[in-house]
Amino acid sequence: MLHGRRILLIVSGGIAAYKSLDLIRRLRARGATVRCILTAGAQQFITPLSASALSGEKAYTDLFSLTDESEMGHLRLAQESDLLVVAPASADLIAKMAGGLADDLASTALLATDKPILIAPAMNFRMWGHAATQQNIATLAQRGVTRVGPNAGPLAENESGMGRMAEPLEIVDAVEKIFRTGETLKGRRALITSGPTHEPIDPVRYIANRSSGKQGHAIAEALARLGADCTLVSGPTEEADPPGVKVIHVSTARDMQAACEAALPVDIAVCAAAVADWRAEAAPGKLKKKDGATPALKLVENPDILAGLSQPGNRRPRLVVGFAAETENVIANAKAKRLRKGCDWILANDVSASTGVFGGAQNTIHLIDADGVEDWPTLGKREIGDKLAQRIAAFLIVKAAE
Ligand code: CTP
Repeated sequence: MLHGRRILLIVSGGIAAYKSLDLIRRLRARGATVRCILTAGAQQFITPLSASALSGEKAYTDLFSLTDESEMGHLRLAQESDLLVVAPASADLIAKMAGGLADDLASTALLATDKPILIAPAMNFRMWGHAATQQNIATLAQRGVTRVGPNAGPLAENESGMGRMAEPLEIVDAVEKIFRTGETLKGRRALITSGPTHEPIDPVRYIANRSSGKQGHAIAEALARLGADCTLVSGPTEEADPPGVKVIHVSTARDMQAACEAALPVDIAVCAAAVADWRAEAAPGKLKKKDGATPALKLVENPDILAGLSQPGNRRPRLVVGFAAETENVIANAKAKRLRKGCDWILANDVSASTGVFGGAQNTIHLIDADGVEDWPTLGKREIGDKLAQRIAAFLIVKAAE
């Protein structure tokens, strides 16, 4: 399945372009989101309208459209994808890729990306057999570009031979294989906490905080994309359950702790929830206004879930990661927090109101471990999830080899 995968489909000129419309449909049926770029050649065969109708997204065509540049730069188009698929890949576009040309939106996106690329060549059999094309294909293979097809069979203009684009289903299989080989956390179990907790004051009121759950959910999704078997224990949020993740919905800190305990043993624990530090001694019935008196809340400390998971013992996860939401002395406070809680890594972030981190789409992280501090650039929360998942996978691979 391709749930949560973002594919940028680049369609170049050739009669096989009509099959790309079927490809869009099949990729979406497996759960992927698909954005399309149509080259000028592709638009001789299919229209941006059909591509956008099938993908449910705007289809992109022109490098120098000013509105597109402000809405969605060509760099972001590639960056916000997990895989670029070129289908059909014409001899011309393959040559541009091999030569590093960037004279239209498609070739620019292909040059400006560090994401994996899959090509499905389609052309006349003489063009395919030409030494220039074969050399270009070899160059792309050397650079790590994956290829599916072409197949032998009937071609345009009553000819036949090697050059037919792979069938859409073959391309979908190739896409799934690329994602499967990236599953570096296959066989690992992960526990993630996310969102706020709600602590009742009485049956109708509660104490809460501004956590949206976006970051924790993105981390769970990213770990699952790398093949980890994930349990996400989530406080009340508006975030949808991430695909491929077991989600346990809780409300209070104590429920969250119990759900975490029940999920053990795991290899990885990431505590991203903004757990309420205190709960109120909840009143059994609704508090009523009485003679203008203001009720005083008696607060009781909640269990620290991160500190509990970090306790030494045979149920301790191999890697425990916490967050430090700070508003001042970010690094110093986070370093102290790592030692106090006993976790392996702390992801420190500045959550002062001016940063817009709580509830916002972006985050600036400093990863603190026993060796020091690693500053990450400001990234989208999804990108942070991916970066953390990659770092966790790399850490576990090194540990396994030791
Ligand atoms: N955390 C937890 N259980 C709690 C409180 C916090 O698991 N009862 C976890 C959070 O998920 C986060 C980390 O501890 O990974 C740090 O949370 P933070 O609110 O920054 O720290 P506090 O312990 O609340 O410290 P302080 O409020 O004093 O900064």
